[in-house]
Amino acid sequence: MNNQTLDPDDWESVRKTAHHMMDDVIDYLKDIREQPVWKHFPDDSKAVLKASLPKEEKPLQEVYKIFEEHIFPYTKGNIHPRFWAWVQGTGTITGVLADMLASTMNPNVTIGEQSAVYVDAQVINWCKEMMGFPAAASGMLVSGASLANTTALTVARNAKLAHVRQKGLHNFTAIPTIYASKETHSCVVKAVEVTGIGSENLRKIDVDSDYRIKIDQLTEAIELDLAQGYLPYCVVANVGTVNTGSIDDLEAIYHVCQKYNLWFHIDGAFGALSKLVPEYQARLKYLELADSVAFDLHKWMYMPYEVACVLIRNRDIHRESFYIQPSYLLNHERGLAAGPDSLNHFGIELSRGFKALKVWMSIMENGIQKYADQIEKNIHQARYLAQKIEANISLELMAPVPLNIVCFRYVRAGLADHDLDLINKEIVMTLQENGIASPSSTILNGKYAIRVAITNHRSIQEDFDILVDAVLEIGKEKLKN
Ligand SMILES: Cc1ncc(COP(=O)(O)O)c(C=O)c1O
Repeated sequence: MNNQTLDPDDWESVRKTAHHMMDDVIDYLKDIREQPVWKHFPDDSKAVLKASLPKEEKPLQEVYKIFEEHIFPYTKGNIHPRFWAWVQGTGTITGVLADMLASTMNPNVTIGEQSAVYVDAQVINWCKEMMGFPAAASGMLVSGASLANTTALTVARNAKLAHVRQKGLHNFTAIPTIYASKETHSCVVKAVEVTGIGSENLRKIDVDSDYRIKIDQLTEAIELDLAQGYLPYCVVANVGTVNTGSIDDLEAIYHVCQKYNLWFHIDGAFGALSKLVPEYQARLKYLELADSVAFDLHKWMYMPYEVACVLIRNRDIHRESFYIQPSYLLNHERGLAAGPDSLNHFGIELSRGFKALKVWMSIMENGIQKYADQIEKNIHQARYLAQKIEANISLELMAPVPLNIVCFRYVRAGLADHDLDLINKEIVMTLQENGIASPSSTILNGKYAIRVAITNHRSIQEDFDILVDAVLEIGKEKLKN
């Protein structure tokens, strides 16, 4: 009989390696500002990762050495103070430690009388408080806003299309339609596809010069669909569009949804958390009246990947969307299988990790005011950067800055847009290759834009001076060539 386990024979040796790892982790994060933002991933390291399935064992120290040499240095860089690409959070040391503790406990946070499900519930309650949702609302922690949006849009579909869970969409003679602005994130398109609605039935409504959905066109599209026998069921509003951070008129959308009896969903992947900042509270008041809201905690709450939240105003409707009770998952009155309603009744997943712990520990440690201050700091940094851009004739601000995203480009009189596109793309790649800063890019009105999305608690004002100086210098250089 084989009595071997995967536990080490020599726990003391593991302790030594673990302490070494922890020292490295702390030094790495402490000194991250001194590192380049991004480093090219060399071919010899890539080659190491092409080796075939190991058959023999190797001491943990040796495995760690490979990690130290070939993996650890070549991170994406979103822990660095000058990383502002896409919309990515920074993480914290507390998050690292919480993840380690969560993996140590290794609970499956779905069913059972265990501390982790209560921590999960407390985090959801805190999320409700942050968003001004009623205490009776429900919610789930999921991997990211993509899944949070998909979860909410599944509930929206099930709530508005009677018996769709049992009978499927082909039970409906009228084709269901859903509405969102053209600036809506691609994950909403995917959600519309995976919920079986079909992306052709997502009406992409035009935006105004502030990148906000045009309410008159939204209403016209709904009216036209009704007249033609379609079945409108949902509007997705944006709080923080991915391109420019624009915030739709939530009050107007709420009234449209009321008038036509549509589900009011908000994708607030990063922007919803600006609700913590006093200046934004009035503008986001109607968020509190949404049927559902999706937002990430790994973006603007700076939690390590992955964790996001979906909140659903009506708990019963939420539960009816996912409830299923097989005989092998029964709750009992006592013992391990007691405890709260199983979390798989509120989402797609059955097995779930303890992602709630990093959120719980971080909020316990910092208090919510500190997060509000960090978010506000990032908004002020975006405004500071926008002002610097507007004050420089070699730079052009390409969109309003309502939140934390700044889109701009390097310009030179007499150059066509096509040439400016090429130069600005070169600037972005050079900034990254030289390890100076990592913005990303987008296309606005057909023009290439350097895009800076600030969800970074490590950024300080000087980081934006460094960025602007480098853009000007690289732009000048590229023009010479
Ligand atoms: C507005 C918006 N919605 C949804 C998403 C998807 O979020 P996630 O990457 O966490 O799935 C993003 C990602 O940047 C986003 O900016």
